[in-house]
Amino acid sequence: SVHTSAKWLGTPLEELKRMPQCSPPLSHLRATDNHTVMIRTDLLREGEVLVPYPTRFKDTWDEANVKMPCSEKNLFPLENEVRGAILKYNMAHTKRWDFSALNAFCNKVGRKAHRRFPIPLLKQKMNHSITMSQEQIACLLANAFFCTFPRRNSRKQEYANYPDIHLFRLFEGSSPKKIEKLKTLFCYFRRVTEKQPTGLVTFTRQSLTRFPEWESSAKQLTKLHITCEGTIEDQGYGMLQVDFANRMVGGGVTGNGLVQEEIRFMINPELIVARLFTEAMDNNECLVVTGTEQYSKYTGYAESYRWAGNHKDEIPRDDWQRKCTEIVAIDALKFKNFLDQFQPEKINRELNKAYCGFVRPGVRSDNLPAVATGNWGCGVFLGDSRLKALLQILVAAEVGRDVAYFTFGDADLMRDVHKMHSFLTERNVTVGTVYRLLMQYYSTVCEPCSSSRPDVSLYAFIYDCVCSSAASLDSDSAAARP
Ligand code: AR6
Repeated sequence: SVHTSAKWLGTPLEELKRMPQCSPPLSHLRATDNHTVMIRTDLLREGEVLVPYPTRFKDTWDEANVKMPCSEKNLFPLENEVRGAILKYNMAHTKRWDFSALNAFCNKVGRKAHRRFPIPLLKQKMNHSITMSQEQIACLLANAFFCTFPRRNSRKQEYANYPDIHLFRLFEGSSPKKIEKLKTLFCYFRRVTEKQPTGLVTFTRQSLTRFPEWESSAKQLTKLHITCEGTIEDQGYGMLQVDFANRMVGGGVTGNGLVQEEIRFMINPELIVARLFTEAMDNNECLVVTGTEQYSKYTGYAESYRWAGNHKDEIPRDDWQRKCTEIVAIDALKFKNFLDQFQPEKINRELNKAYCGFVRPGVRSDNLPAVATGNWGCGVFLGDSRLKALLQILVAAEVGRDVAYFTFGDADLMRDVHKMHSFLTERNVTVGTVYRLLMQYYSTVCEPCSSSRPDVSLYAFIYDCVCSSAASLDSDSAAARP
């Protein structure tokens, strides 16, 4: 029975799979053609600081690798440049700003940045993973803070199709958001300098060439837990956690942005380093990041965001010493007109993007944790949450994963999506059938519509079609009777 005061509906959260319980044993960590491993795998031990590999620096100043501050080709060496570099962007503050803490920090962390390793760029169309230590990430992020990466101060040049990695935009302006972001980052830098983290993080770019034939999919829906309370990162621990991303991963994290993606990159700052090497995502691509740690708590959201102190991350580590936290960056489309998102090519694009995020080629679905998601593309990107919830449910069904859906306070949405999911499940309606209804909804309701909003809602249309023409739905005949 559905109580109006219910805080969650559907399958109890405890019944959905999580890592590490559902994960298969990992093979021995080793470098391959599509996996760059930046530490000595033979020295990988629980709780011990990892040893970088290669031990001697190969100075790679080329198209395939990140141009490093320590390269001989770099015209702007790190030492003593930090203060000057920061002040270059903040001339007016030259007299007022005290840099003692920064200098001490520079001596402590900056030196380690000179442990030298080439980092491959994860370019479009590449299927490639990079595994690096949390300590190496800390060094790289210290360099991002000090803005030392060659060629990365403007996006006009060779890194035009990459996110900004330098943090100088965090130092400018007077928005209270900036202060809270700096507090959050300094919490991270304080933590990793007080006690070196001992784990690994893997960044995987997944670029697919084959996608499902949505129209003919006979897959049944999987389980759904839906709740108007809690968040992806808190209640979705151990699940595949969706980052409502920008095609430039991290979106506005190094500048003004402070919504779902940027907040996640703030509290798990190791995510930020992805911006150093991840080219803009294409429609068929995602970035999967496994092993980042949460260092900060927060309250609020966007303008009301506040740093709320240290967070002690209790998530266990896997055999590769990675936190069992898997985050997938998938970028939704941004819609200006409400009706556009119902166009077949837009629906296909969003289904395929989510599919890329949720599918794990070669892994049995028993071994895949549930997907923890929510209103993907429905905040800044102005998508319709009822459509996006349904699309994500279809994709999860296609890949055989359950869904934990966080509506972020929206109880009406929770009830509507739960009702639709139960309705479709009880009638054994397949992914392909729902897909065909989406196509019919566009051609019969949206396309002819002359106002900015459709006359019939998507869910009302689906209920009506399934109820009035259940018998003919699985054939290809146009079954819509709106
Ligand atoms: N857990 C669950 N749901 C959440 C959470 C959370 N922690 N935080 C927010 N929501 P938005 P978009 C819900 O606007 O529309 C960034 O700049 C909440 O209902 O962040 O895909 C990216 O870099 C919120 O309204 O995602 C992109 O540029 C909704 O999720 C752009 O925003 C959507 O969050 C992506 O915009």
